[in-house]
Parts: sequence; structure tokens; C-alpha cells
Amino acid sequence: MEVSIKVNGKSYEREVEPRTLLVDFIREDVGLTGTNVGCDTTQCGACTVHLDGAAVKSCTVLAVQADGASVNTIESLANGELHAMQQAFTEKHGLQCGFCTSGMIMTAVKLVESHPDIEEDDIRHGLEGNLCRCTGYENIVRAVAEGARRFDPHSPWEMDPAEHKITLREAERRARERSRT
Ligand code: FES
Ligand code: FES
Repeated sequence: MEVSIKVNGKSYEREVEPRTLLVDFIREDVGLTGTNVGCDTTQCGACTVHLDGAAVKSCTVLAVQADGASVNTIESLANGELHAMQQAFTEKHGLQCGFCTSGMIMTAVKLVESHPDIEEDDIRHGLEGNLCRCTGYENIVRAVAEGARRFDPHSPWEMDPAEHKITLREAERRARERSRT
């Protein structure tokens, strides 16, 4: 079957089998391997991407179901600079082997976009569908809290509504501009 799926802003028209999973389309047809496959059975969240703006496990979606949709993967976040949530994971040591990390970050970004004042319990609850076998989760929760702080409209961090992301450099530039006015 022919599908047309926009991935990270670029359209891909491909012939796929009806059983092709969206995660396999992303990894094999598009060639973006930042989205991982940990279980293939909807349990681990390593395959989380944004599908038309919602965080979904891409092993639970068929490529044909995503026909005409817009998908964003972990590769879409950094733009010369790490995304604020990626930076927070780096600073707070929210990863060890890194296998779960792209899925964690894609889930976390959607979690805090609409709830910048998110509490620790909300973070733990929001990440329930993402499993990590290395970290014990404590640093992941700290990282997401730090990422959320950077999404707070009252902090120097601002989000570009068009891009749904912010970079450290851009945040610092905006903060400097504000301090001059
Ligand atoms: S690979 Fe999709 S949930 Fe584990
Ligand atoms: S850092 Fe290894 S699975 Fe999470």
C-alpha cells in the first residue's frame, strides 16, 4: 500500500505492507534510528514519537494508520543546540545506556508542554508507560522537572509555539534582551 507520511517536516511516499509498524517505517524506510524498539508489544515506550502532536508508542501504530499524518521523532528536537529537555537530561544525568532516552524525552516534552508547573507525582505518573532498566528513575524525574522549569513562562525559558521547542542559546538571548528593556 502507498502511504505518505510527513516525518520531521519532510514528506515520505513509500510502498509498505499493511502490517508495517510506524516504528519500522521510521527506522527502515525513513532511516531515522533515534527511535528505538525495546519490546514491540506496547510496554516499554522506547519507540515514543509525536504523531499529529500527541506522544504515541510507534510500535502500536501501523504505517497505514499514519497515512497523511505528521510525525516528529527525537531527531527533530535539536536544532544546532540541544532541546531544553535534552539538555536537562544531560545535566541531571537522566540516562545511562540511553536506550530508553529518546522515548523518555519525547514523552516528557509532551508532558510538560501543557503543564510547566508539573509536580513530581505527575511526572512519575506521566512516565508510567516508559520503562528504564538502568537509572532507577530518580534522575529521570529530576531531569523532567528541570526540563519543566525551563518551559515555565516565568522563567528565562520560552517555547517557540511554531516549533514546540526552545534552545539554550535562544533562551539566553531572549533573557538578555529582556534584561536590557
Ligand atoms: S517498542 Fe514500542 S512500547 Fe516497546
Ligand atoms: S538508560 Fe538504560 S534503559 Fe534507560
